[in-house]
Amino acid sequence: MAFPTHRPRRLRQTAALRRLVAETRLHPADLILPVFVREGLTEPVAVTSMPGVVQHTQETLRRAAAEAAELGVGGIMLFGIPETRDAVGSASLDPEGVLNRGIRGVKEEVGADVVVMSDLCLDEFTDHGHCGVLTADGVVDNDATLQIYGQMGVAQAEAGADMVGPSGMMDGQVAVIRQALDDAGRQDTAILAYAAKYSSAFYGPFREAVDSQLTGDRKTYQMDPANRREALLEVSLDLDEGADMVMVKPAMSYLDILRDVAEASDVPVSAYQISGEYAMIEAAAANGWIDRDAAVAESVLSIRRAGADTVLTYWATELARWIKEGR
Ligand code: PBG
Repeated sequence: MAFPTHRPRRLRQTAALRRLVAETRLHPADLILPVFVREGLTEPVAVTSMPGVVQHTQETLRRAAAEAAELGVGGIMLFGIPETRDAVGSASLDPEGVLNRGIRGVKEEVGADVVVMSDLCLDEFTDHGHCGVLTADGVVDNDATLQIYGQMGVAQAEAGADMVGPSGMMDGQVAVIRQALDDAGRQDTAILAYAAKYSSAFYGPFREAVDSQLTGDRKTYQMDPANRREALLEVSLDLDEGADMVMVKPAMSYLDILRDVAEASDVPVSAYQISGEYAMIEAAAANGWIDRDAAVAESVLSIRRAGADTVLTYWATELARWIKEGR
């Protein structure tokens, strides 16, 4: 008998064979585009640490949403950057606040073609940059924050959000937001819970993108990168509280967590390829150290392969175009 008996290389010989047997595929509908809209701009402003990403005006935001819709991107996740901030993040509740206006504009633009999602968190709106309000001692006040989150959820639903994304990692946030939405007659507004969100150094570029006011860190509310079992606890709590979808974040440094969550969850699982993941690939590519397009596609594929049904990625529109063009 000829050696070797098994030749797995046989199925790798041509692009057609490789395509036929590929276990994981990227589809535009599985991608969610995170976008930033900033109050008071007349022109979009580039985010230096995220080449290709901008802070949008209300007008360019609508155009970006229309382009994503045209290419079949599955969802858009909005972040707002207000002109004025205060201790309790009041601008987050104002129907004319930057984020709520952005949601309304995008919804008008894309209608039912794309799922309109909004970040439900106070960090962009507070003058101290924390995800919640503070006690007199300067500690994040979990339960006082929940009351604001509930109101924020209703404000975003009324602006037109199909799905809200609580990302502040306060205990009980999903339950309080679900109750507030239901009480406001918004039973149909879904919740994508940032269930396993780690306190990560890779959020760095995002802090520039949202002009973050934070000094210090979020270690008292976001998860410790050392912990795996705790992610399953966070997910099960969020599911008990009524989460419609759950997320793992960041993605690439947490693919093991993503796999665990995908196996444990009976709702769709998202992963967020965050700003630092984007910046690392763009920076290496800009230096000519890696093949940009191949690295982008491989990175998102790896997140899908690890178990994410949907991926939030700043490359969503570009990837959707490549897929459409059959690249
Ligand atoms: C908090 C929030 C953050 C990100 C999304 N939502 C920042 C943080 O937790 O510090 C980071 C996203 C990214 O880095 O791309 N509202």
